[in-house]
Amino acid sequence: MTGGARAPLGIGLVGCGGFAEFVLDAVAGLPGLRLVAVADPAADRAARLGARHGVPALGSLDDLHLRDDVDAVLIATPPATHAATAMAALRAGRHVFCEKPLATTAADAAAVAAEARRAGRVLLVDHVLRYNPLLRAIQRLTKRGLLAPVRRFLFENDASDQDLGPDHWFWDPTHSGGIFVEHGVHFFDAARALIGSDPVSVRATAVARPGGPVDMVSADVVHPGGVLASHLHSFTHAHRAERQLMRLDHGFAETRLSGWIPLRAEISAWVDDTDADRWQQLPLDMGTLLAVDGFEPLGEELVTVHVDRHAGSTEPARGRGEPRTVPHHVRAVLDLGGETRKPYVYARSVRAAMADLVRCVHEGATPAADAAGGLSAVAVAEAATLAAATGTGQAVRTTGVAV
Ligand SMILES: NC(=O)c1ccc[n+]([C@@H]2O[C@H](COP(=O)([O-])OP(=O)(O)OC[C@H]3O[C@@H](n4cnc5c(N)ncnc54)[C@H](O)[C@@H]3O)[C@@H](O)[C@H]2O)c1
Repeated sequence: MTGGARAPLGIGLVGCGGFAEFVLDAVAGLPGLRLVAVADPAADRAARLGARHGVPALGSLDDLHLRDDVDAVLIATPPATHAATAMAALRAGRHVFCEKPLATTAADAAAVAAEARRAGRVLLVDHVLRYNPLLRAIQRLTKRGLLAPVRRFLFENDASDQDLGPDHWFWDPTHSGGIFVEHGVHFFDAARALIGSDPVSVRATAVARPGGPVDMVSADVVHPGGVLASHLHSFTHAHRAERQLMRLDHGFAETRLSGWIPLRAEISAWVDDTDADRWQQLPLDMGTLLAVDGFEPLGEELVTVHVDRHAGSTEPARGRGEPRTVPHHVRAVLDLGGETRKPYVYARSVRAAMADLVRCVHEGATPAADAAGGLSAVAVAEAATLAAATGTGQAVRTTGVAV
């Protein structure tokens, strides 16, 4: 297409369940995108979602492929079907927006990533945290040297099982891949983004509820350079008792993020004269700090910084033997509008992910939530699952499978 005006990217949805509904609402009206059809073998679900969005309801992925207005496929089926569905869509020449996880095994994830490359199509994995303004801000602060690289990552997830009845596919590893694969991938990917490297090894534990399925898992993941990331997921709570903490240790500084969709970051840092001034200026730069392409700010964001000058002595302080003169204490808060804003931040992150797909299709670029990230997260999840089952440490392998 020439002259600027482009036809909107036609998207077809496969899998008309709960999350598909959320995604379609989140991306409704996105410039450059047009929903053209939805598909699900459960005819009632397809009909309901199709009617809601005014598009035809079809029975299968193959039906979507028969339409020449479907440029990209949005995959929102259960995890065990993702790899085969993505493979078929890519082979049919379509771009892919794939719900996480990319696959339930690293070998399958690698095969899909390879197929996307071979086909020259964009593949985006819906790791929503990649489009969260607070995670972007932490990455920027690290890049600017205001935060030292993360040396320790911790994620504690007291998650809700309120809507996960005993027959839900979530509990059945043959459909979900297990908790590390189904849910853990979000945070394996976030750790990869924040630490800046692919993990090398993992040890893990899985605990089952009495007479029931595994509902609590933990993994210690080692990244290069001795960076340790600990991940814990416990699907044992009512919605109202859900809570999450992501804690990043930067040595002289600490970041605490709350919410699995992070909504608030609290930073505590010991700094020198120069950085005390730089931190103090930070609120003036709030727009740039929190910017995510395609994420429309809510207008309720707040960055506050308090610098306590000479809160400590001017004698050099040491961690890991490294002396630093850091007498000033910084307390910074980055807030996206409070707990009640979770649905908005979640939806806008999904919308930003879809905007990234559209941009990458037009520019031939690679999305922030790309196939390499999808593969890495599944590889850690698979290794963690095996580590928990065998009680042995496992190497994380993204190679050895065709990439
Ligand atoms: N990114 C996120 O934050 C996030 C959040 C929730 C769920 N998810 C992911 O979204 C996906 C869907 O989850 P859900 O909760 O909506 O599940 P769901 O069970 O509510 O819906 C799945 C739908 O897929 C359909 N389906 C199953 N196999 C199919 C196939 N082969 N072809 C076409 N349709 C098929 C089912 O009939 C059902 O309608 C999962 O992969 C889940 O991990 C992602």
